[in-house]
Amino acid sequence: MLKAKMIISKDFVIGRTDERLFGSFVEHMGSVVYNGIYEPDHPKADADGFRTDVLDLVKPLRLSVVRYPGGNFTSGYRWEDGIGPRENRPTTLDLAWRAVEPNAFGLNEFMKWVRRVGADPIMTVNLGTRGIEEACHMLEYCNFAGGGYWSSLRVAHGIAEPYRIKVWCLGNELDGEWQIARKTADEYGRLAAETAKAMRRIDEDIELVAVGSSAPHMATYPEWDRTVLMHTYEHVDYLSLHHYIGKRGKDTAEYLAMPLEVERQIAEVKAACDYVKAVKRSKKTMYLSFDEWNVWREPDVEYVPWQTGSPYDWVRFHMEDALVFASAMLAILRNADRIRIACQSLLVNTIPLILTEKGGKAWRNPTYYPFAHVSLYGRGEVMRCVVDSPKYDTPDYTDVPVIDSAAVWNEEKDELTVFAVNRAGEPALLAMDIRDFGPAFAADHIEMRHERLDAVNTAERPDEVAPRQGEGVFVRDGSAECLLAPYSWNVLRFAVGRREGRLTDGE
Ligand code: AHR
Repeated sequence: MLKAKMIISKDFVIGRTDERLFGSFVEHMGSVVYNGIYEPDHPKADADGFRTDVLDLVKPLRLSVVRYPGGNFTSGYRWEDGIGPRENRPTTLDLAWRAVEPNAFGLNEFMKWVRRVGADPIMTVNLGTRGIEEACHMLEYCNFAGGGYWSSLRVAHGIAEPYRIKVWCLGNELDGEWQIARKTADEYGRLAAETAKAMRRIDEDIELVAVGSSAPHMATYPEWDRTVLMHTYEHVDYLSLHHYIGKRGKDTAEYLAMPLEVERQIAEVKAACDYVKAVKRSKKTMYLSFDEWNVWREPDVEYVPWQTGSPYDWVRFHMEDALVFASAMLAILRNADRIRIACQSLLVNTIPLILTEKGGKAWRNPTYYPFAHVSLYGRGEVMRCVVDSPKYDTPDYTDVPVIDSAAVWNEEKDELTVFAVNRAGEPALLAMDIRDFGPAFAADHIEMRHERLDAVNTAERPDEVAPRQGEGVFVRDGSAECLLAPYSWNVLRFAVGRREGRLTDGE
């Protein structure tokens, strides 16, 4: 049998998780908004047109932030088209996704929805077809008390109190050839810096995200990041990273190893930030906003352009995808000292956590569960674990640890949680030395696995891939042992230290 060992000590902490690591993304894209979170004709829609069956699935995720309105959509979007009385709003063409945008759902509808979810918004401004002036108008509408044209308009729209939206993304993926109004790094860097300066004159409390490379495979990576930071370093708070992991014909061993590239990307982007810090003799540390991350596979349905709410990248993820997804999330967790914001992309219907049928059911994709577990139990101090795991090689990767893991200590609750993916097709015994935390009184083992790696959840069988109680964790004298099933996702929870026994439900 495969065997792995892990030592977790109270003294070795990577960093505390920022609340905003547990975020997602709602873009006007496919059926994310229309026929996703918003479908006024649906039998379960509320008075605002929000699908309550979708809200019931979103709330347990405990999302901290939701990014909006895009994505690529933003680079051609006029935010003003989506405010005020609906009958006056124009129907427009969304050039990013070649869709018809009715503008029935806009900024104020999103704010209502995100508050119902209990999350904070992250807004993206259009720095593709538009610029400084429109970004300032949008910020004034959202955050300024009143007195100017746009803030008074908000008040006239019945929203007396400003939203005080904290985090603003200065555009989206402007290095990409697919982007409406793509820019060079110098063009974008100058525009982002000047937009940041102007926006801060309206609200000095906002935090700003500059657009980093769209992906590590971009020809301009990481030079784009360096150039953009040379222009923006003292004006922004975060640099963005995006990453989508696609299987694309690789075998399971290779696919499960791909999250190593997420880890490498984080290290490289950190290095680019720190290089610019050194060049500028700056005292400021640039933090990272991983504001789009996910797995990707071929969609189950064909996209029909020039529709509203036509499904795009509508994917029933496999059990195997959920393992890769979980590993990507663990890579982000292990870099909690530098990543302050992370948004799984996207929430509903496009490579989603939640799938919906127009007029019908809503259910969970398998990726929903690792996200929910990390969101519920992964807040606290991320521990620097010493792990001795068997390793494997593939044509593209060497020394891939069979056991991929992260551990989070929640001191206030006296709880320690170990998250682990078993990348092997055979069981692995994980031995954990947690003596440093004092007596460990109780343990819980949540496990997700399926005998078929291509198992999916459907409207008819929504719980085919779902977590259940695992075999359990054996704890004695500060040593714990757990048998991790082949190709499984595991959450091992310990009550440690002062209090006896009881585990919280994560609330
Ligand atoms: O799938 C979401 C899209 O992917 C976003 O609009 C864009 O930013 C990224 O390329």
